[in-house]
Amino acid sequence: MADPRLEGRAVKRIAYSAEQIAERVRELGRDITSAYPDGDLLVLGLLKGSFIFLSDLVRCINRPLAVDFLVASSYGNGTVSSGLVHLVYDPETELEGKHILLVEDIVDSGRTLNSVIDVLRARKPRSLEICAMLDKHISTHLEYPPKFIGFDAPHEFLVGYGLDHAESFRHLPYIASLQ
Ligand code: IMP
Ligand code: MG
Repeated sequence: MADPRLEGRAVKRIAYSAEQIAERVRELGRDITSAYPDGDLLVLGLLKGSFIFLSDLVRCINRPLAVDFLVASSYGNGTVSSGLVHLVYDPETELEGKHILLVEDIVDSGRTLNSVIDVLRARKPRSLEICAMLDKHISTHLEYPPKFIGFDAPHEFLVGYGLDHAESFRHLPYIASLQ
């Protein structure tokens, strides 16, 4: 039966089912819990793509933490990444002295991530690591590779579980490529 959420499109392939995602998120939560035995932890979601992943992930992290978000925007026309970003929404939370875990939906070229990291590093956190739900492993020169990765993603355009195509399909409970 056609999925009514797909606006008439068809799934080519379900890359990760809701069950596979839930299992992997629980494992990531355990890894993250044991990686931070002490100190203040701030889980910082890069919007919009990380919103579903982050909300599931923080419920699997079994230690105190705070949540904030940031919105980054590339300079330029947006079709060709210039590699420069500015923060459209800047976290209100103080970063200095805290463990910062930056949560991203998918690492493609890694440009977005690396620019954001430079901005955050200047605020003198105690540590700064990245947790990416998906990593396409396209970039070989990432200055800050993610410490925590949900899945090594195929080189296809994926939607669902936060990932969009022109703002649609973020609410799919699975991750898929479309026809
Ligand atoms: P990067 O700066 O090239 O790493 O691009 C990362 C951003 O591009 C992600 O945060 C996503 O918003 C978007 N993106 C990259 N690949 C995909 C995909 O397969 N599906 C949906 N969005 C993607
Ligand atoms: Mg996006």
